Amino acid sequence: MKALTIAVVGARGRLGAYAVTHYGRTEGLSVVLQVQRGDDLRAALLASKPAVMLDVTEAGLGALHARVALECGVRPLIGTSGVSPAQASELDTYAREQKLGGLIVPNFSLGMVLLQRAAEDIVQHMGQCEIIELHHERKKDAPSGTAADTARRLAAKRGDASPIPIHSVRLPGHYAHQEVLFGAPGETLRLRHDMSSPEAFGPGLVAAVRYCQTAVGVAVGLRHAL
Ligand SMILES: NC(=O)c1ccc[n+]([C@@H]2O[C@H](COP(=O)([O-])OP(=O)(O)OC[C@H]3O[C@@H](n4cnc5c(N)ncnc54)[C@H](OP(=O)(O)O)[C@@H]3O)[C@@H](O)[C@H]2O)c1
Repeated sequence: MKALTIAVVGARGRLGAYAVTHYGRTEGLSVVLQVQRGDDLRAALLASKPAVMLDVTEAGLGALHARVALECGVRPLIGTSGVSPAQASELDTYAREQKLGGLIVPNFSLGMVLLQRAAEDIVQHMGQCEIIELHHERKKDAPSGTAADTARRLAAKRGDASPIPIHSVRLPGHYAHQEVLFGAPGETLRLRHDMSSPEAFGPGLVAAVRYCQTAVGVAVGLRHAL
């Protein structure tokens, strides 16, 4: 069977380096291109023609790089934070016009998908909630893309346009953690997800890249790939 060919953009970063290693040891996947800051992304994609491009760079670059990938006929898998709903919708429209697809994944961990599912159920019964996200001190963006995604999903489920507050903590000793706190008269309910290593992203990275291979349009969330 022919291997699924992958480009990793931001390959020397924390998540990028893990993805290169994990894809490299997964049967049927082959990393054919690693892109770093300063490289010409368009020229590199056109020269090596991977099937899928994983972007894990810097908040703000995800949508831009996804557009370049689609223009080159490459399917984008965007793990980078900060793709807005409007940008995701534009990418979806353009990908469909090009008869291509991809995926935007604010969080590759299975536990986070399950936390969001449970929270979407709870918020319909306990509508008052707030999010606390805690990360290591080297994380540049706040709030995290995952917390923003969770807040959007919960606001949509409770049918109330008011934003759900997010509290961001950046401290040494943390890796990646998120709590959703629900409050009602006389009781509280707390959902918490804790990550201790990038291994939590492995199965999601593989499922997502395989999903992109045949995706139609650009959806948001790992749930589409599970
Ligand atoms: N979806 C998820 O599950 C998930 C999980 C963790 C992190 N993230 C997000 O993924 C992104 C990367 O996170 P990280 O922790 O890996 O960050 P990181 O360690 O800072 O790595 C980012 C890498 O991207 C490189 N880079 C920056 N601009 C670039 C460009 N224009 N072209 C190519 N490479 C470029 C950086 O190069 P320099 O070293 O030269 O700066 C760095 O090597 C962030 O947005 C983060 O929030 C998502």
